Amino acid sequence: MEEELLEDILASFKGKRYELVPILQEVQDNLGYLPEKAMLDIARFVGVPESHVYSVASFYAQFRLLPLGRKRVAVCRGTACHIRGAPQILSTIVKTIDLKEGETSDDLEYTLETVACIGCCALAPCIRINREVSGDMTPEKAKGLFLVKEGGEDVE
Ligand code: FES
Repeated sequence: MEEELLEDILASFKGKRYELVPILQEVQDNLGYLPEKAMLDIARFVGVPESHVYSVASFYAQFRLLPLGRKRVAVCRGTACHIRGAPQILSTIVKTIDLKEGETSDDLEYTLETVACIGCCALAPCIRINREVSGDMTPEKAKGLFLVKEGGEDVE
Protein backbone atom coordinates (compact mmCIF):
# COMPACT_ATOMS: atom_id res chain seq x y z
CA MET A 1 0.00 0.00 0.00
CA GLU A 2 2.69 2.47 1.07
CA GLU A 3 4.88 1.33 -1.84
CA GLU A 4 2.09 1.77 -4.39
CA LEU A 5 1.28 5.19 -3.03
CA LEU A 6 4.92 6.22 -3.25
CA GLU A 7 5.12 4.94 -6.83
CA ASP A 8 2.04 6.97 -7.75
CA ILE A 9 3.49 10.09 -6.13
CA LEU A 10 6.87 9.69 -7.84
CA ALA A 11 5.13 9.11 -11.18
CA SER A 12 3.67 12.61 -10.93
CA PHE A 13 7.18 14.14 -10.82
CA LYS A 14 10.03 14.21 -13.33
CA GLY A 15 12.82 13.03 -11.05
CA LYS A 16 14.63 16.38 -10.97
CA ARG A 17 16.77 17.39 -8.04
CA TYR A 18 14.79 20.61 -7.50
CA GLU A 19 11.66 18.53 -6.90
CA LEU A 20 13.03 17.04 -3.70
CA VAL A 21 11.14 19.26 -1.24
CA PRO A 22 7.79 19.08 -3.09
CA ILE A 23 8.13 15.28 -3.26
CA LEU A 24 8.86 15.07 0.45
CA GLN A 25 5.82 17.27 1.14
CA GLU A 26 3.59 15.12 -1.04
CA VAL A 27 4.77 11.90 0.59
CA GLN A 28 4.27 13.32 4.05
CA ASP A 29 0.81 14.65 3.16
CA ASN A 30 -0.19 11.15 2.12
CA LEU A 31 1.62 8.99 4.67
CA GLY A 32 1.75 11.37 7.63
CA TYR A 33 5.54 11.09 7.86
CA LEU A 34 8.61 10.21 5.82
CA PRO A 35 9.43 6.51 6.18
CA GLU A 36 13.12 5.63 5.79
CA LYS A 37 12.42 3.39 2.80
CA ALA A 38 10.56 6.21 1.05
CA MET A 39 13.51 8.56 1.58
CA LEU A 40 15.84 5.98 0.00
CA ASP A 41 13.54 5.62 -3.00
CA ILE A 42 13.22 9.40 -3.33
CA ALA A 43 17.01 9.79 -3.23
CA ARG A 44 17.34 7.33 -6.12
CA PHE A 45 14.51 8.99 -8.01
CA VAL A 46 15.94 12.51 -7.91
CA GLY A 47 19.56 11.30 -8.15
CA VAL A 48 20.99 12.62 -4.90
CA PRO A 49 22.75 10.79 -2.04
CA GLU A 50 20.49 9.38 0.66
CA SER A 51 22.30 11.57 3.18
CA HIS A 52 21.16 14.67 1.27
CA VAL A 53 17.50 13.63 1.46
CA TYR A 54 17.88 12.91 5.16
CA SER A 55 19.57 16.27 5.82
CA VAL A 56 16.80 18.15 3.98
CA ALA A 57 14.06 16.18 5.76
CA SER A 58 15.62 16.76 9.17
CA PHE A 59 16.40 20.45 8.51
CA TYR A 60 12.81 21.56 7.94
CA ALA A 61 10.52 21.44 10.98
CA GLN A 62 7.56 20.60 8.72
CA PHE A 63 8.88 17.09 8.05
CA ARG A 64 8.30 14.16 10.35
CA LEU A 65 10.64 11.20 10.36
CA LEU A 66 8.44 9.16 12.68
CA PRO A 67 4.81 8.08 12.23
CA LEU A 68 2.01 9.99 13.91
CA GLY A 69 0.00 8.54 16.76
CA ARG A 70 -3.55 7.32 16.15
CA LYS A 71 -4.73 10.27 18.26
CA ARG A 72 -3.16 13.57 17.26
CA VAL A 73 -3.53 15.89 20.21
CA ALA A 74 -3.18 19.55 19.31
CA VAL A 75 -3.12 22.13 22.08
CA CYS A 76 -3.84 25.65 20.87
CA ARG A 77 -1.19 28.16 21.86
CA GLY A 78 -2.87 31.12 20.13
CA THR A 79 -3.35 34.38 22.02
CA ALA A 80 -6.97 33.80 23.07
CA CYS A 81 -6.17 30.33 24.37
CA HIS A 82 -2.89 31.41 25.93
CA ILE A 83 -4.46 34.10 28.08
CA ARG A 84 -7.21 31.71 29.15
CA GLY A 85 -4.90 29.00 30.42
CA ALA A 86 -3.49 27.01 27.50
CA PRO A 87 -0.03 26.70 29.14
CA GLN A 88 -1.58 24.95 32.18
CA ILE A 89 -3.60 22.68 29.90
CA LEU A 90 -0.52 21.75 27.90
CA SER A 91 1.40 21.08 31.07
CA THR A 92 -1.41 18.83 32.37
CA ILE A 93 -1.53 16.86 29.12
CA VAL A 94 2.27 16.51 29.05
CA LYS A 95 2.13 14.96 32.53
CA THR A 96 -0.95 12.82 31.84
CA ILE A 97 0.22 11.15 28.64
CA ASP A 98 3.93 11.48 29.43
CA LEU A 99 4.87 13.10 26.12
CA LYS A 100 6.56 16.37 25.30
CA GLU A 101 5.43 18.65 22.50
CA GLY A 102 6.25 17.07 19.14
CA GLU A 103 6.58 13.54 20.52
CA THR A 104 4.69 10.37 19.64
CA SER A 105 4.16 7.61 22.18
CA ASP A 106 6.02 4.34 21.62
CA ASP A 107 2.71 2.49 21.17
CA LEU A 108 1.71 5.09 18.52
CA GLU A 109 -1.42 5.95 20.50
CA TYR A 110 -0.72 9.69 20.82
CA THR A 111 1.16 12.49 19.12
CA LEU A 112 1.26 15.75 21.05
CA GLU A 113 1.66 19.02 19.21
CA THR A 114 0.78 22.67 19.60
CA VAL A 115 -0.90 24.83 16.98
CA ALA A 116 -1.11 28.59 16.47
CA CYS A 117 -4.93 28.75 16.40
CA ILE A 118 -7.55 26.06 16.00
CA GLY A 119 -10.05 28.62 14.72
CA CYS A 120 -12.47 28.43 17.65
CA CYS A 121 -11.17 31.37 19.69
CA ALA A 122 -14.62 32.05 21.22
CA LEU A 123 -14.33 28.64 22.92
CA ALA A 124 -10.82 29.30 24.22
CA PRO A 125 -8.93 27.54 25.56
CA CYS A 126 -9.22 24.71 23.04
CA ILE A 127 -7.60 21.44 22.21
CA ARG A 128 -8.20 19.18 19.24
CA ILE A 129 -7.93 15.42 19.18
CA ASN A 130 -7.82 14.33 15.56
CA ARG A 131 -10.67 16.40 14.09
CA GLU A 132 -12.69 16.89 17.26
CA VAL A 133 -12.31 20.24 18.99
CA SER A 134 -12.97 20.58 22.72
CA GLY A 135 -13.41 24.11 24.02
CA ASP A 136 -13.67 25.79 27.41
CA MET A 137 -10.92 23.43 28.43
CA THR A 138 -9.58 23.25 31.96
CA PRO A 139 -6.65 21.20 33.26
CA GLU A 140 -9.15 18.89 34.99
CA LYS A 141 -11.20 18.35 31.82
CA ALA A 142 -8.04 17.79 29.82
CA LYS A 143 -6.83 15.19 32.29
CA GLY A 144 -10.21 13.45 32.12
CA LEU A 145 -9.91 13.10 28.35
CA PHE A 146 -6.86 10.91 28.74
CA LEU A 147 -7.70 8.82 31.77
CA VAL A 148 -8.19 5.15 31.08
CA LYS A 149 -11.30 3.35 32.32
CA GLU A 150 -10.92 0.03 34.03
CA GLY A 151 -10.95 -2.49 31.21
CA GLY A 152 -8.66 -0.39 29.09
CA GLU A 153 -10.97 1.95 27.18
CA ASP A 154 -10.15 5.63 26.99
CA VAL A 155 -12.58 8.03 28.57
CA GLU A 156 -13.66 10.46 25.83
S1 FES B 1 -6.39 31.13 19.80
FE1 FES B 1 -6.99 29.16 20.34
S2 FES B 1 -8.62 28.74 18.99
FE2 FES B 1 -7.87 30.66 18.36
